[in-house]
Amino acid sequence: MSLVGKTILITGAAYRIGAGLALHLARAGADILLHHGHSPEAAENTANEIRKLGQQAWVLQADLADTDQATGLIHRAWQIRPFQGLINNAAVFDSLDWQQTTADDWQRTMNINLTAPFLLSQQFARYLAGSAGRIVNILDWRALRPGADHMPYTISKAGLAALTRSLAVALAPNISVNGLALGAILPPSSGEDVGKILEHVPAKRWAEMTEVGHAAEFLLSGPAYITGEIIHIDGGRHLV
Ligand SMILES: NC(=O)c1ccc[n+]([C@@H]2O[C@H](COP(=O)([O-])OP(=O)(O)OC[C@H]3O[C@@H](n4cnc5c(N)ncnc54)[C@H](OP(=O)(O)O)[C@@H]3O)[C@@H](O)[C@H]2O)c1
Repeated sequence: MSLVGKTILITGAAYRIGAGLALHLARAGADILLHHGHSPEAAENTANEIRKLGQQAWVLQADLADTDQATGLIHRAWQIRPFQGLINNAAVFDSLDWQQTTADDWQRTMNINLTAPFLLSQQFARYLAGSAGRIVNILDWRALRPGADHMPYTISKAGLAALTRSLAVALAPNISVNGLALGAILPPSSGEDVGKILEHVPAKRWAEMTEVGHAAEFLLSGPAYITGEIIHIDGGRHLV
């Protein structure tokens, strides 16, 4: 299966990894429904880059902290163009430990990182109504080795890993659901000190964005029999 003639909805695709995925998949022949939360200008710029590649791109805004907006996003995207793939990429990554985390921090992180992917997947499956689809959830190596740092984020990603496997069963046989557990792809935009990160990465380098793009392309267009799988793209970080 190729991505030519396919349309993919990517959340949080205005910039950084989401935009990198959108551009990679557009180069592979897909048209892109490009979601953003609060970045209309960056989203339009990325959409224009996709159009320059000869593919179609549409920009959709929704605040995924709001469950109604998350639920409504699939309907709005479907009205533009029925689509075959969904990438749940949008997330918040706050540096909060168990002491600092408030109930509001916890709930907001869960809404964006876990509840929204569930609601989007649920609606996507309803709209597909039995035709073939692919879902790719963007995880973190921390999802399968939850530690004490970035507490609400880490637990939301652990939940998303569980959701990936649970939905792989629930949405079979027409929809495959897989995850990409990322490691050191891009330094956090918060400006956190990243000086020591590579000390814990066996590959001793940051990833190339094309490596993430190729893996997403594989899960969107490769064997549909692969489902419930979580592929690490972390240079071995989860092993040490
Ligand atoms: N960077 C890495 O090396 C790394 C490592 C491991 C895992 N990951 C995972 O990879 C994915 C992308 O990472 P990144 O570094 O590119 O993230 P990022 O720069 O923090 O971007 C996150 C995206 O999420 C969207 N978002 C945040 N809050 C939102 C809200 N309330 N409503 C709608 N959209 C919202 C943002 O869009 P707006 O600004 O438009 O709201 C943004 O496009 C995330 O799932 C992250 O957990 C990244």
